[in-house]
Amino acid sequence: MLRRRTVLKGAGAMAASLALPGHGFAQGAGVKIGLILPMTGPFASTGRQIDAAVRLYMQKNGAEVAGRKVEVVLKDDTGTADVTRRLAQELIVNDRVNVIAGFGLTPLAMAVGPLATQAKVPAIVMAAATSSITEASPFIVRSSFTLPQVTVPLAAWGAENGIKKVVTLVTDYGPGIDAEKAFKERFTASGGEVTAELRVPLRNPDFAPFLQRAADAKPDAVFVFVPSGVGAQFMKQFVERGLDKSGIQLIATGDVTDDDILNEMGDVALGTITTHHYSAAHDSTENRAFVEAFRKANDNMRPNFMAVGGYDGMHLIYEALRKTGGGTAGEGLVNAMKGMAWQSPRGPISIDPQTRDIIQNVYVRKVERVDGELYNVEFATIANVKDPVKATKS
Ligand code: DHB
Repeated sequence: MLRRRTVLKGAGAMAASLALPGHGFAQGAGVKIGLILPMTGPFASTGRQIDAAVRLYMQKNGAEVAGRKVEVVLKDDTGTADVTRRLAQELIVNDRVNVIAGFGLTPLAMAVGPLATQAKVPAIVMAAATSSITEASPFIVRSSFTLPQVTVPLAAWGAENGIKKVVTLVTDYGPGIDAEKAFKERFTASGGEVTAELRVPLRNPDFAPFLQRAADAKPDAVFVFVPSGVGAQFMKQFVERGLDKSGIQLIATGDVTDDDILNEMGDVALGTITTHHYSAAHDSTENRAFVEAFRKANDNMRPNFMAVGGYDGMHLIYEALRKTGGGTAGEGLVNAMKGMAWQSPRGPISIDPQTRDIIQNVYVRKVERVDGELYNVEFATIANVKDPVKATKS
């Protein structure tokens, strides 16, 4: 309790000093962005992708906006919420950053909500995707997605394509539970049946016993969510348990067939149906340029949905600064972000002014081999999808 109070007092003092005339508005003074990502540990691929995308955005758009130099201070939270909170506090109080950004997992984003509110510092969530995150602070704006947003279209697709019985298998924390609920609600509303709901631990998951239970239930399909980077391990155990030959269809959110690891999975992934907001194979001028530049700058690495969350998050910060004429007051920046709309490599996107969440197309995709590599090939588009949880509430 004592520690927590000290943390908040420190952040409050920072907010007060930010309001002093001269600070943050001095001509030519820099704008600092504290970028907090898991650069090591089990979710390092998220950090690697977002960091690369942030650097690419600055390489393409320059390190200056509205006459102010932009500086990114990158910190590794190792995917641990206590570390995220401590780093956010240090960045706000000591480094005097104007914006914090990143947040590779839901608990990490949740950990900075109170700090962002207290210090009035915008927090751009570039990765984490539990619906409720934007409600943790009025200073949170999200450039990634929400699990219900991408899951509801998949449940609808399944119901319309002859799938009647489903077992759901999700990672047991915020986004997995969001996906499980959203899938069941939409699927059963169309007359489908969810015969088992399985939850796998976030840390060191062993899918084998859950896959055995899924196989024994003999559903038409298994619906899966696992976070970015974990899909390859899931797919390996899916094959080891013989589910690829069982006649049970695999349907999933695009987190499972993540572009970062899709090629590693091999032919077993072929035919998997997923829904998501970004595929490296998205057919547009903006995306072709994005993928080519990203590969060029990063030793041929393919960008995934985390990268596009980072890239668009930077766009949000740059354009908000342009709108405020370089002003860095937190409320002004967040207000400038509300309702902002632009063409992303993923397609047209905007920030919902009511919820500060992203509105975007969701695509139905199938894993196919294209020019010798596996890709999520989009074949249907559901346009301008809002997070359905908050859409229902408001
Ligand atoms: C979250 C993390 C992921 O890697 C992902 O693909 C989706 C959601 C999260 O923790 O919110």
